[in-house]
Amino acid sequence: MSDSSAYPALFPGMPALDDLELVRLGLLAPDDVGVPAGPVTVVDAEGVPVAEVGADGSLGWLSPRSSRPFEGWHLTEDGVELPAALVDDAAALDRVPEGTRTLVALASTDGDDNQRDLDLVRAVRRAADDGGYALRVAPVGLAAPDRRQRVEQVRAALAGDDGTVHDLTAATGHGAYRSRGVVVLLSGLSGSGKSTLARALRDRLVEDEGRAVSLLDGDVVRRHLSAGLGFSPEDRETNIRRIGWVAAEIARHGGIAIASPIAPFERTRQDVRAMVEGRGGRLVLVHVATPLEECERRDRKGLYARARAGEIPDFTGISSPYEVPTDATLTLDTTGQDVDPLVDQILAALELPATTD
Ligand code: ADX
Repeated sequence: MSDSSAYPALFPGMPALDDLELVRLGLLAPDDVGVPAGPVTVVDAEGVPVAEVGADGSLGWLSPRSSRPFEGWHLTEDGVELPAALVDDAAALDRVPEGTRTLVALASTDGDDNQRDLDLVRAVRRAADDGGYALRVAPVGLAAPDRRQRVEQVRAALAGDDGTVHDLTAATGHGAYRSRGVVVLLSGLSGSGKSTLARALRDRLVEDEGRAVSLLDGDVVRRHLSAGLGFSPEDRETNIRRIGWVAAEIARHGGIAIASPIAPFERTRQDVRAMVEGRGGRLVLVHVATPLEECERRDRKGLYARARAGEIPDFTGISSPYEVPTDATLTLDTTGQDVDPLVDQILAALELPATTD
């Protein structure tokens, strides 16, 4: 490679790399995708050079991209066997038209935060196996910007002059196919009943729904994941962010995480929401709003009495604030209530799709 090594390296992000892949395959023109301004060496997420862009915008291909899941099913320069059907929604697999020979999954199988795309390709592969179709993957991520336009361009390019390419993509475009993952965050004062509800909810999900559930109980997390942290605002923030990160990972893989820390600060709860939703999961925030007087009356661990006596600093509700959530999916007061009906309410709020397996 002559002068190219002198070009600065640029990782343009997954959607842009997917676009370049479509250009390399001859499905799109460089003008269609907005190639990064040169001179620059475009690299993939691992730093492997993919292409170089000259100062004049000229494009030269370097090594092929590093391997990714489903690499062997990706589109090739040879095009596809027609008629083909473009799929970005597993639900559309029920209506593949008669005579279709190839299913083209529109998905980005690179990168880290693309569980939905990988789930989609797996679903399309099963359908291809079952129905005797060929499978191809076109790198158009479910979350790609300009997605509608890319789908249309790919459709036109694959169809050529006289081929049939059915568009079975979801009308709503990206986001139509979500991970089934859910994070239930039960937030409230110490003694409000969070752990009791969390355990009862876990039991119901496991017994009745056959779901994979991970319980991240406040006290248990503090013994393991957050051992050594105290109750200063900074330590609480670290604690909740760790819980959020783990819970978001569980949701990313389609599982259900139930976490029951006090989580007293609005900002940290918002961070958790961003982590969960950023990975395609859903956050169900349950404010366990049992009043302080009731929590203090219960005082199962004797901590309120000690906090009142000044023996425990920064005690939530006594000497450290609890910021009431403004975005709770559900608000529950456990005072004088049986657990079961409260769990019913949380289950309804989860809006879980019916289990298929
Ligand atoms: S959080 O604020 O970081 O979300 P977390 O739920 O993990 O708190 O821990 C709360 C539990 O720690 C309480 O149920 C109580 O048993 C215990 N605890 C010990 N010190 C405090 C304190 N200063 N404030 C609140 N809870 C405390």
